Amino acid sequence: MINEKNLLNNNETINKIRKEIKYFHPKTLDDLKKFKIKFFSRKKGIITILLKKIKKIPIYRRKEFGKIINGLKCQIQEKLDESNYLLKENEKNEKFDYTVPGTTIEIGSIHPISILKNRIINILSNIGFTYVDGYEIEDDWHNFTALNIPLLHPSRDMQDTFFLSKKKDILLRTHTSSIQIRYMENNCPPFRVLSIGKVYRNETISSHSNYMFHQAEGFYIDQNVSFSHLKTIIYYLINSIFGKTKIRFRSSYFPFTEPSAEVDIYYDKKWLEIMGCGIIDPKVLENVNIDPKNYSGFAFGLGIERIALILYGIKDIRLYFNNDIRFLKQFKSEFF
Ligand code: PHE
Repeated sequence: MINEKNLLNNNETINKIRKEIKYFHPKTLDDLKKFKIKFFSRKKGIITILLKKIKKIPIYRRKEFGKIINGLKCQIQEKLDESNYLLKENEKNEKFDYTVPGTTIEIGSIHPISILKNRIINILSNIGFTYVDGYEIEDDWHNFTALNIPLLHPSRDMQDTFFLSKKKDILLRTHTSSIQIRYMENNCPPFRVLSIGKVYRNETISSHSNYMFHQAEGFYIDQNVSFSHLKTIIYYLINSIFGKTKIRFRSSYFPFTEPSAEVDIYYDKKWLEIMGCGIIDPKVLENVNIDPKNYSGFAFGLGIERIALILYGIKDIRLYFNNDIRFLKQFKSEFF
């Protein structure tokens, strides 16, 4: 029988209890219950008895005695918790029926905007366009001034801007044309470049406009590039996206292209405006140290959401960004 005397005086007894705890490997929850009762039962539990006897121990040894009992108590509790967990896990595994066929996990789908993005990259890379990324946070130079949109120019009002600094020199890009400037500053022509990304404008959210949307920007610089080259590429791009479609060029104005045009497609018995384009203004080339006497080029920009609205027959632009799985999972990518 273990008691306070032999517990304190006989290391062997303590070690015996410790060993008993250590080598206790219950096979059933019933074994575990018995083990618990042996140590913790209200009347005859070994730990309960020992704790009761603390009072009888001479004061100067009480602390030491208490420490040993508490140590044992913790060890037992740990053993109980651990064994309980293991036994329950085992029980679960035994219930596992290996003959039931597995169910496939539903994986996500590609966002419609990404599907279209990949599609446009694919179409234009087939004719030698390189894909590059730009920055969503831009400075005034790349978003406006270098693109021939000086301060106080009325066309700045067309792109109601989110400024990120009081001086209004840092902003969220309002269009992807800023990428033209960054790329031309760092590369020598000839080049054909495509970029697709988010742009931001302070617009009221409605079914057809949002404060954030995606644009694709293409530009092409070489010797003797003319408007007919631009038209050929636009026809190729639009026909690849929509199939054979009627296209019309309407003369328009952008500060960074001259001449400029808006492109409409005839879809569902209506003319729909889908992109802006033009021959890059010689001033823009000068701003990035490309000699306009030697080189010329064109650029075009289109809104991805708009194309997707037409293509998928979606009536409300907000659906793209509501993260409603029922909407999103309907889109199947041809690439993944
Ligand atoms: N950056 C123009 C816009 O956002 C679109 C555009 C791009 C027009 C390239 C001409 C050439 O409205």
